[in-house]
Amino acid sequence: MLVPSNVCFYNYFPGIIYILVIMLILNKTARVFFKPSKRKVDGFLRSFNFHPGILFLHKIVLGIETSCDDTAAAVVDETGNVLGEAIHSQTEVHLKTGGIIPPVAQQLHRENIQRIVQEALCASGISPSELSAIATTIKPGLALSLGVGLSFSLQLVDQLKKPFIPIHHMEAHALTIRLINKVEFPFLVLLISGGHCLLALVRGVSDFLLLGKSLDIAPGDMLDKVARRLSLIKHPECSTMSGGKAIEHLAKQGNRFHFDINPPMQRAKNCDFSFSGLQHVIDKIIMQKEKEEGIEKGQILSSAADIAAAVQHTTACHIAKRTHRAILFCKQRDLLSQSNAVLVVSGGVASNLYIRRALEIVTNATQCTLLCPPPRLCTDNGIMIAWNGIERLRAGLGILDNIEGIRYEPKCPLGSLQVFCILSLIYTLQTTESFNLHEVMGRRDTAIGF
Ligand code: KG4
Ligand code: ZN
Repeated sequence: MLVPSNVCFYNYFPGIIYILVIMLILNKTARVFFKPSKRKVDGFLRSFNFHPGILFLHKIVLGIETSCDDTAAAVVDETGNVLGEAIHSQTEVHLKTGGIIPPVAQQLHRENIQRIVQEALCASGISPSELSAIATTIKPGLALSLGVGLSFSLQLVDQLKKPFIPIHHMEAHALTIRLINKVEFPFLVLLISGGHCLLALVRGVSDFLLLGKSLDIAPGDMLDKVARRLSLIKHPECSTMSGGKAIEHLAKQGNRFHFDINPPMQRAKNCDFSFSGLQHVIDKIIMQKEKEEGIEKGQILSSAADIAAAVQHTTACHIAKRTHRAILFCKQRDLLSQSNAVLVVSGGVASNLYIRRALEIVTNATQCTLLCPPPRLCTDNGIMIAWNGIERLRAGLGILDNIEGIRYEPKCPLGSLQVFCILSLIYTLQTTESFNLHEVMGRRDTAIGF
């Protein structure tokens, strides 16, 4: 027999109140006798799907990330609470070998994944049976690294009988901001790290319009190569820093005006990037300086700080100019709000304050809001993967009950690159060519010296 929904609710109402009272009494009694930690009480209440002040089914996702050189896991709930997190970074090992050696990364992931997932789950205080789903990065990334995360996750999914959510690593980077800020779609995202460099319009959880990408290497990769060529690992102040961080640190002591380097792709009427040309220019400068200073390759140049300042400045200029084009294009095409546009910047290179400042100048000049996740969420982590799982659960997108035939994909572009978009991008940017970034930046911030 069909029962009207309001009758159904009122029939159950006294029962719900009764259960609530019993749970509160149990909670209070348990506190008197055992003085349990807040986490344990929360876990106990969650097992009844009860949260202080809220009575509904709470989504909780375990996220697992192994796409590159970090083994990371986190447990996040649908309100964005990070219940538990753990990470094992391989940076120190790869710094010693002068770059990531994939079989070494794979071995380190294998040695650490079980412990890291266990640590994240333990820290969260929830039992695996309480998870709504398991989300794991399956694309893009290093094949050997992705494989470890995927096979571990599939075993866990099979054991716990939970849904599986395959995650695109770049999508996760792009959506991380929504865990901490109330950012509505659409917004513009700039992802800059050691392995990525792209500009995209985020129109929905899984709806991206790719506006530009690096035609060769990523900015972090270029900065790492320059730092290695400068032997910054031997520099007493930089020995434990990543290449990009070492360049930022040293640049503060240098004078960028000692070198005059043109930003790449000045004439290209699109939003693509390029960094390998810049790397070769810097290589030549270093060789020349080594000759002048009479030192061997592998020793630290007295002009290393000046070179660091020049490469950082040129990188910032290039990134800022391409981003400026993308903002203008989106505004002209009404793809972004005229008055309320948001630019999100993420990835390891986004933690560089000089590059952030350059982007701030661009966003101020175009009436955009610049948002950057905190550094620990800019670099690879498990939280962004778990959060992407939550976003997908809420949107009902890509949640798999059957994991048969699921594969990792080392190469996988983000979003669509529509032909109409490329054509109109070229058109729009030709019309905005007269905009002089040097002038705008110079006027607004002489300290940075654009
Ligand atoms: O996002 P991430 O942890 O890993 C991926 O590449 O996916 O980014 C690491 C990259 C490295 O290339 C590192 O040199 C660069 O980010 N990086 C920086 C800074 N901190 C890390 N680049 C410039 N300035 C920094 N402060
Ligand atoms: Zn990444």
